[in-house]
Amino acid sequence: MSLRIVSSISEIVDVFEQRGNSEYGGEDVTQIEHALQSATLAESESASAELISAALLHDFGHLIHSLPDDAPDNGIDDFHEAAAAKSLCEVFPDSVTEPIKLHVRAKRYLCTTDKNYFSKLSHASVTSLNLQGGTMSDQELHEFESYTYWQDALRLRVWDDLAKDPKIHTPELSHFIDFLESARN
Ligand SMILES: [Fe+2]
Repeated sequence: MSLRIVSSISEIVDVFEQRGNSEYGGEDVTQIEHALQSATLAESESASAELISAALLHDFGHLIHSLPDDAPDNGIDDFHEAAAAKSLCEVFPDSVTEPIKLHVRAKRYLCTTDKNYFSKLSHASVTSLNLQGGTMSDQELHEFESYTYWQDALRLRVWDDLAKDPKIHTPELSHFIDFLESARN
């Protein structure tokens, strides 16, 4: 699977314009709606520009591969978190790419440590959880907590899970460009 490495913010905007209207795997929102909702939630909690950028771009990996939108339903993990972090690493520092890289493991962490969390996951998110490794062992929990950005990844994950509501209104992508500019390398 070839991977598109981006080198500028305008290139990222182009990718959203070309692919952003694709389905967000089994949910009621598109990829761009999901991204904008995540970033809006981050901004509403006064997160840093880096974490707002991470929220906006956390599923960028879904936009730069050629697998179908319903890949998880067919038993395929697209490893979109690693793809996004790699694609974006020329433009953004670790404070943006590391929470993105950890956001799937953050789901596994929360499913293991918070009973309420699991009960609120969407159907599509439960399906992909099993592909992503299910709940964590004690050793995996410990390892997760050793990463510098693990708590940012947990915050990002909570916004990610809430950002699937077709009724939420958000600013346009252009609103978030200033955050991307101040978070970039
Ligand atoms: Fe997401």
